[in-house]
Amino acid sequence: MTDPVTAWHRLAGSAVLLDGFHALKHAVRFGAEVPVAVTADRAATLALADELAPDVRDALAALLTEVPHETYTSFVPRAHPTAVAALAVRPSRESNLAKLAHTPRKAPVVVLDNPRNLGNAGAVIRLAAGFGATGVVTTGTVDPWHPTVVRGGAGLHFATAVERLTVQELPSGPVFALDPEGDDIRGTGLPDDAVLAFGSERTGLSPELRLRADHLLSLPMRPQVSSYNLATSVAMTLYHWSTGSGAAL
Ligand SMILES: C[S@@+](CC[C@H](N)C(=O)[O-])C[C@H]1O[C@@H](n2cnc3c(N)ncnc32)[C@H](O)[C@@H]1O
Repeated sequence: MTDPVTAWHRLAGSAVLLDGFHALKHAVRFGAEVPVAVTADRAATLALADELAPDVRDALAALLTEVPHETYTSFVPRAHPTAVAALAVRPSRESNLAKLAHTPRKAPVVVLDNPRNLGNAGAVIRLAAGFGATGVVTTGTVDPWHPTVVRGGAGLHFATAVERLTVQELPSGPVFALDPEGDDIRGTGLPDDAVLAFGSERTGLSPELRLRADHLLSLPMRPQVSSYNLATSVAMTLYHWSTGSGAAL
């Protein structure tokens, strides 16, 4: 068996860093391939698994190798309170594209049109995982697998299909674009094959996305407020989809 230090250095450049116990737990639950996982305190980590994640306790026990605390801290930008870190294989673009293209779709795809804030993108991936969305697509320059986005996603990138595409490459399905100027979302039911698009934090929806949109919807908001935060807008919209409320289109 390769020692964890050699494996870490060999893989760190190309793999996805799972920073902390919860990120590793989520990634394992959702089928991530994890070639190396370390802890500075194996007994404490397995006690945490017994308490919080008995479903993956044995899988974690098989993956985790104890290393000295200094070795662990040399692997991560900032030590995590759980002193756990792992590297996972990023799913191939082909497999994500196949999931995004699969029909009939049972849950919407979320599109972030040129997001600028990496923490927001991570929070949206966590939301999409929680609601069982088919995927999260970003347009623009941000890589949705950037380490800061992965940190915000708490290991849940493996629970939904996360890819960057152009507006022209968006998956099929009716596009519902969210914008404060749209029709009140409460009057509209969102179908399971919806493509739910949200604008950039700075500039809102791009002209390309507006052209592609079939419906423009707004979230209820007092007139004096200009807009909501991007991730909270996604949360309200996915919640609206999950309730099945609003008139069916
Ligand atoms: C921070 S807002 C963008 C604000 C930007 N200055 C603008 O001009 O739209 C980010 C995104 O969240 C969504 N959003 C925020 N508030 C909304 C609302 N009241 N109704 C619908 N969408 C909203 C939209 O998709 C928006 O593009």
